[in-house]
Amino acid sequence: MALELAEAHLRGLLSQLGLDAEYVRGEGDTLWWRTPSGDVPVVDYVGGYGSLVLGHNHPALVERARELLDQRVPVHAQFSYHPYANDLAAALNRVLWREFGVEEPYSAIFANTGAEGIEVALKHAEMDRVGRVARLRAEIEGHLASADPELAARAREHNEGRFDLPPVFLTLEGSFHGKLAGSVQLTHNEGYRVPFRGLAAQARFVAPTEVAKAVEAERVTVLDVVDGELVERDLPVVAAFFVEPVQGEGGIRVLEAEVAAEIRAAADAAGFPVVVDEVQSGVGRTGAFYAASHIGLLGDYIVLAKALGGGLAKSSVLLVRQSRYLPDFELLHSSTFAKDAFSCHLGLRVVDLLEAEDGAAYRRAAERGEALAAALRSVRDEFPTVVADVRGKGLMLGLEFHDQTGGTTAVAEFARQGLLGYVLAGYLLREHRIRVFPTASATHTLRFEPSIHITDEQIAQLVTGLRAACTALRDHDDPAILPA
Ligand code: F0G
Repeated sequence: MALELAEAHLRGLLSQLGLDAEYVRGEGDTLWWRTPSGDVPVVDYVGGYGSLVLGHNHPALVERARELLDQRVPVHAQFSYHPYANDLAAALNRVLWREFGVEEPYSAIFANTGAEGIEVALKHAEMDRVGRVARLRAEIEGHLASADPELAARAREHNEGRFDLPPVFLTLEGSFHGKLAGSVQLTHNEGYRVPFRGLAAQARFVAPTEVAKAVEAERVTVLDVVDGELVERDLPVVAAFFVEPVQGEGGIRVLEAEVAAEIRAAADAAGFPVVVDEVQSGVGRTGAFYAASHIGLLGDYIVLAKALGGGLAKSSVLLVRQSRYLPDFELLHSSTFAKDAFSCHLGLRVVDLLEAEDGAAYRRAAERGEALAAALRSVRDEFPTVVADVRGKGLMLGLEFHDQTGGTTAVAEFARQGLLGYVLAGYLLREHRIRVFPTASATHTLRFEPSIHITDEQIAQLVTGLRAACTALRDHDDPAILPA
């Protein structure tokens, strides 16, 4: 047997679950699975973890990619003028201005992946915070230099060490912002986060009902002397609040407008930026380009990734509103592959395709999303003891099962190991030619993120598979679900 060197351990697990299929062709929402008896079409509801809002190998994007290669467009010309990056930033701005009804420009820092875009946001927010701390410190030092020496001494004693406190990042419970050193600390799932907590600044995970309280709990003050009296000043310790408009990995949970408004108000009062993570929900999937536009949550920072590459390129971008943008950041941060011509040109074509015909693609995402949601709700209604909930927005949908960990069946044992969603994914692939996964931090929830071209027939195929899975779960029919 050939040596397995590329994540062989993971492949072993995939194989146990019946998920180690090799896909050899992709078009729209169909993947072809290579099996000993030929290539078998599979309906793909995983959608490249949300990066395929236009489907696999969209013809117009393939054509654009081919053009770029045929024209020998230099993919990498670092440290030169990149008009295509500017064009893409401008296109993203035009959509943003329209959807949020604002006029302020957002500056763009490009990156390569979702987590990298989040890390860029972390760095920019920390640079902003450090600047605010330094200005406050200088102002207080100025006051203390001419203040009553006794008061000044008391203030200095109280302030000792406080200006050097590390930053705190806030985010909601259930959040997922990536798996790199900094971003994984903003990812609620302890399994991913805790082993690496020594590597980066820590986040506080806030319950949606406790936003104001959580911000208040982080309040740190320093002492100043103003008009001959000791006064408390707020020290900027919180660097940013990160939030997904629709939580993806946390189980497909739509952020409520009231919670969004509370986050916005708390940030405005305390002076830290709101970072809206649209890595998964953005770029058209929810029925608008920016998912946060549905709830009127205008971020100071917005991060896009996944679908921005059209399924062919890897790219991400951090957008920062001009009034909070630090131009010097550009001299401190860079990446070899970021802002490359190939991904920028493709990103521009993605925006064009979504914006064409007065936004027909967004209307289609909303309409197809409603068709898929209705289908999922019909399964829930038929199996109320098996399916707990159907939720989401547009083509970002989740179906949550009731707890299946009770009992002595093998499926219950898998559920106790957090593998229920994966076992069902193996079943649906094997028996129904449906590719679907659970959300990784809430494995009782299957997620559905097909393209805007998903058809009624493909949805019907999913319903058939889900009904069979629910029947087997209801009847504790292990042999029906597990591989022979
Ligand atoms: N933010 C969100 C909201 C995400 O869903 C993800 C990735 C990231 C950041 C990190 O992006 O993988 O390109 O570095 N979500 C993947 C998923 C893992 O399963 O949907 P990345």
